[in-house]
Amino acid sequence: MGGRRKFLLFICVIVGCIIISCIIIACINIGTGGGDGPPPSAPLENQDFPPPRQPSPTIPKPSLLPPPPPKISPSPPPKPPLLPPNEIDAFESLRLKLVFPVIQAFKKKVVKDPLGITKTWKGKDICGDYKGFKCDTVPGFNQKALSGVNFNQFNLGGPNLTLTDFITGLPDIVFFHANSNNFTGSIPNLNKLRYLDELDLSNNNFIGNFPYQVLRAHHLKFLDLRFNTFAGLIPPQVFLLNVDFLFINNNNFIQKIPDNLGSTPARYLILANNKFIGGIPKSISQASNTLLEVLFLNNQLTGCLPYEIGLLKKARVFDVESNYFTGPIPHSFQCLKKFEALSLARNKFYGEVPEAVCSLPELLNFTLSYNYFTKVGPLCQELIKNGVLDVKMNCVLELPNQRSPAACAKFFSRTLSCPNETSLAYVPCSEVYTRAQLESSGIQLTSPAPSPVQAPRWVSYAALSRHHVINASMYH
Ligand SMILES: *[C@@H]1O[C@H](CO)[C@@H](O)[C@H](O)[C@H]1NC(C)=O
Ligand SMILES: *[C@@H]1O[C@H](CO)[C@@H](O)[C@H](O)[C@H]1NC(C)=O
Ligand SMILES: *[C@@H]1O[C@H](CO)[C@@H](O)[C@H](O)[C@H]1NC(C)=O
Ligand SMILES: *[C@@H]1O[C@H](CO)[C@@H](O)[C@H](O)[C@H]1NC(C)=O
Ligand SMILES: *[C@@H]1O[C@H](CO)[C@@H](O)[C@H](O)[C@H]1NC(C)=O
Repeated sequence: MGGRRKFLLFICVIVGCIIISCIIIACINIGTGGGDGPPPSAPLENQDFPPPRQPSPTIPKPSLLPPPPPKISPSPPPKPPLLPPNEIDAFESLRLKLVFPVIQAFKKKVVKDPLGITKTWKGKDICGDYKGFKCDTVPGFNQKALSGVNFNQFNLGGPNLTLTDFITGLPDIVFFHANSNNFTGSIPNLNKLRYLDELDLSNNNFIGNFPYQVLRAHHLKFLDLRFNTFAGLIPPQVFLLNVDFLFINNNNFIQKIPDNLGSTPARYLILANNKFIGGIPKSISQASNTLLEVLFLNNQLTGCLPYEIGLLKKARVFDVESNYFTGPIPHSFQCLKKFEALSLARNKFYGEVPEAVCSLPELLNFTLSYNYFTKVGPLCQELIKNGVLDVKMNCVLELPNQRSPAACAKFFSRTLSCPNETSLAYVPCSEVYTRAQLESSGIQLTSPAPSPVQAPRWVSYAALSRHHVINASMYH
């Protein structure tokens, strides 16, 4: 009896051992990747981005592992930790190793390189050697990464010089600056670039509709698309971008400026040198806490200026030169206490120039030339003497350099009116100080601009020149 029991127990132990051995072997096989199974691959798109500013984890996540070694490697280490630099082929970090092939592929697309920039794009010291790239420690990964591209004025060119597969392959960039190059093609979806806050594609070769994909770059603070050949409508969503700088001047945008213009939080808004038609949306007053400079100049805008412009209490530059506007200057403009530069030149404005506008305390440049104004009072005449106000080629017949009486008579023979005349007399602010009152109270007034060469005191005017480079940090 006892012998049979012992025998059964012995069988059990043997079977148990076999099962345990099988489990162990299986485990080892799984742990080493099974030897001949396909190596797991993690394409860039599927990389698991940790949320920004998360403390770096102590246990490495799969996303931090290097790409699997080639098949010939017999048994890779079972649990590879974050490798020290010498074991990741001399790249300073894995984040940099990741962008190396992206830069090399882009290099092949550069056909014209007058400054010899791409010659420096060789070897593994991306942060040290490569011109046009900047590195920084990326939050979350806590390692060196490619944090910015600065190709400003490199004049890179080539028939296939597109952003596709380039900008989207640089997952850690904070800025992409490429003023004055020959980039072309379409703009890829930027929604994966979670740190991108400055995009400057000014003075390149982009054509076609407004690049809708930029609307997906949710963190953009600076968007510069000026001097391209974008055409068609601008989508209202543009004014929902949480940007500080919005430069879309010198393109071929047509049609009306979307009604939600005033939703934009931009401080600098430049719509100049396009083909916009229609009026300035009344919603512009919603931007009163943020808008500092706005240029509508050289479009095909029509109608009267809405009195709501007078609510832009922070604005210092407002320019509608060379459009088809008409009507008088709204009396609300006397509330624009911060105005430094105001141009209504080359339109069909008429009426009296309000004395209260001529007494705005900060005015440096007030241009009304080539309109049909008929009267300037003593305060305005003072500004003319100081070289601040320019009223040449109007209908103030007692002043020099005016239109002919015949041209003025012809203009005024038509019926002139604005849709809401009463709103143009409305003054939406209470305290109105004249220049003289401010002077007598001892407040220092800004003196007229001395030099004709503008240092970029006004960002927006600087942006009207093609090669002028602007970035957000210059204007904080
Ligand atoms: C830019 O590209 C366009 C056409 O793609 C070409 O006509 C032009 O010459 C190029 N300019 C430069 C500076 O490479
Ligand atoms: C540009 O792309 C076209 C079509 O994709 C290709 O035929 C051509 O060889 C490319 N040119 C260069 C310089 O890469
Ligand atoms: C004033 O503004 C006008 C039009 O914007 C410009 O042409 C002129 O050069 C400016 N003058 C000064 C002194 O800045
Ligand atoms: C004209 O503007 C005034 C002042 O803003 C406003 O109260 C009034 O409703 C407007 N009238 C019309 C017809 O739009
Ligand atoms: C911005 O421009 C300034 C002055 O040109 C320059 O020193 C700085 O590096 C630029 N910043 C970026 C992010 O390009």
